[in-house]
Amino acid sequence: MLPRTFALVLLLTAPLSAQLSQDIERRITGLIARMTLEEKLGQMSQSTAMQIPISASIKEEIRRGRWGSFLNAGGPADRAEAQRIAMEESRLHIPLVFGRDVIHGFRTVFPIPLGEAASWDPDLIGQATRTAAREATSEGIHWAFAPMLDIARDPRWGRISEGASEDPWLAAAIGTAVVHGFQGNSLAAPDSMAACAKHFAGYGAAEAGRDYNSTWIPESLLREVYLPPFLAAKEAGVASFMTAFNALNGVPSTGNAFLLRKILRDEWKFDGVVVSDYTAIEELIQHGFAADSADAARKALNAGVGMEMVSTDWFDHLPRLLRDGQVDMKTIDEAVRTILRLKFRLGLFDHRPQPVGEAQITAEAKETAKRLAAESIVLLKNGNGLLPLSRSISRVAVIGPLADSAMDQMGAWAMDGRPADVQSSLAALQQKLGPDHVLYVPALKNSRDTDHAGFAAAEDAARRADVVLLFLGEEQILSGEARSRAFLGLPGAQAELVQAVAKAGKPMVGIVFAGRPLTFHDTAAALGSVLYAWHPGTMGGPAIADLLFGDSVPSGKLPITFPRTVGQIPLYYAHLNTGRPPSLTDLGIPLGNPVNPTGYTSKYLDVDFTPEYPFGFGLSYADFAISNLRLSTSRLLPGQRLTVTADIENRSKIAADEVAQFYIHQRTATVSRPVRELRGFQRVHLGPGEKKTVTFSLTPSGLLLEGGPVDVWVAPDSATGVSARLLIDPRR
Ligand code: NOJ
Repeated sequence: MLPRTFALVLLLTAPLSAQLSQDIERRITGLIARMTLEEKLGQMSQSTAMQIPISASIKEEIRRGRWGSFLNAGGPADRAEAQRIAMEESRLHIPLVFGRDVIHGFRTVFPIPLGEAASWDPDLIGQATRTAAREATSEGIHWAFAPMLDIARDPRWGRISEGASEDPWLAAAIGTAVVHGFQGNSLAAPDSMAACAKHFAGYGAAEAGRDYNSTWIPESLLREVYLPPFLAAKEAGVASFMTAFNALNGVPSTGNAFLLRKILRDEWKFDGVVVSDYTAIEELIQHGFAADSADAARKALNAGVGMEMVSTDWFDHLPRLLRDGQVDMKTIDEAVRTILRLKFRLGLFDHRPQPVGEAQITAEAKETAKRLAAESIVLLKNGNGLLPLSRSISRVAVIGPLADSAMDQMGAWAMDGRPADVQSSLAALQQKLGPDHVLYVPALKNSRDTDHAGFAAAEDAARRADVVLLFLGEEQILSGEARSRAFLGLPGAQAELVQAVAKAGKPMVGIVFAGRPLTFHDTAAALGSVLYAWHPGTMGGPAIADLLFGDSVPSGKLPITFPRTVGQIPLYYAHLNTGRPPSLTDLGIPLGNPVNPTGYTSKYLDVDFTPEYPFGFGLSYADFAISNLRLSTSRLLPGQRLTVTADIENRSKIAADEVAQFYIHQRTATVSRPVRELRGFQRVHLGPGEKKTVTFSLTPSGLLLEGGPVDVWVAPDSATGVSARLLIDPRR
């Protein structure tokens, strides 16, 4: 139920906003009636062609209404000038909308999206996104091409780094927070910008993890796993959608009327902009879906795309296609309407403030970035309680190619971040301990370096230190778009470096930077503790230094399953049971060591069937216990709500956060259900010895549950937890 005051505000503002949107629609109708075909097609065209400084020919094209939008183009002054020309010198004074890949921060760079997801803290992610919106809008950007909501279960795919997990529930919660973060309470506020749910849809299922590859997703899986985060974004009011590059079940998303018309417009009633991905309309030819550019133009328009990014098939071919009756003006007008609607909603017609100059990085932004980085880092291993380190340690050896690399700390898609703003791990440790207490040896030039020349110096530094901190992983250019990998081990000679340094016999902590789950079983075994830091952004260094020395406590949880080896992929927690589930007694087979091939169960001969680290997993310096699971009823009737509560106790002397996760499993159904499905989570702060109660709820109808037994868990990860069973009453 809505709180009363909020309901009252809604009651009073509803007629006002209905009036406002009627007004907008009237103005759009008036404009469309006055537009030439070229002006309409101009609105439907988005270009990168605006350079710094903006050229005379582009100025002239803007004056003529050739472009409705630019992406990743120009600097603040160019954007201001382009907007002035559009609004003062073009025939109909229609403003431009400037889009940009504001993916995980703008000038202040936050952890890569997969890292943000590891915080399981939508509120903080929303706050970070608001910061990014403030910075980006101050430079005249109105439209962010984020959140990327592609569920991905294959870490070979480089864009897994840009997504919000393998799980639709977690991704939906984060997607909602990001949409609210960008769009604020009103899109027209000077520090709000339009968000874009991308890539619609199924892109994350690229076959074999190879970017842009085809996806084959049955409709039931599409609707249950791949679409829910997009629907959540739509419900949160997201202003735009972007199509995907890939073909879904043989039909490229950019020409896919089932996705763009049936689901998005007819079922979900989305009335915003649908922009193609970069040259994706022209790529319909390569897909073997369109014969030529004209055919591509026709198919994309008729399928429901509303704006063409970068390729110019529409501008070049729609006039003739219109004359020939292969497309109609109504479809073009519909597309133009969505674009003008976005521009009105953004307040662009009402002269949004122009950019004043370069975005500044504030102390508050840095603080948010540091907090989010700290919450996103996952403690995977902590042998003998090696961490946190004592401040009385007199010397640490900082070794590895990623200890002092600003670019790699920022991660992929950080084009507005500046290396000079980045506080590296090395710098933060030197500041925390004093430079004399830190021995630094990069040992390798970068993560792919295979040269052992620096190993002796690294080993020597390790011998002279009390503790060794190894900064390992993959560089930022190894993840992101078109950055698929077939092998997921530590690149270059990093594994050998760890073995060499181990000879010094000192305690070793690994800090792993990566855009995806890596497989590093043997290296992890050699390390005492492992912190998985993703690419943690501008303030990653201080966040890591604080975690290492106990000035903050790890609380990140994996938003993705870590396989033991590439051969297990795809591996995800919400899998079906099979008719021959393997038994847990099959555990403990050493990696790569074949077992006696007995037992006809669903497992591997040469590796455990279980993951290296399960979804939801993450350790703490504190010691939490979840107990006392209670259900409001053991028999749930139709229309009833189930409430599940459990106690979480901090049995340590360290104040820390735990993320309680709520899972369900419907044991019997007309279509088999996953062994576990996330249906809620809560980040809880607990002081030393403190105990709190967490509450989750469930309604059978909302979750498509059929009658029958259902298991529920409140858990610290997807593999353990306390559970109970209830019965969903089949009477309906
Ligand atoms: C291609 C990417 O797939 C998309 O995510 C991005 O927003 C556009 N390029 C624009 O840079």
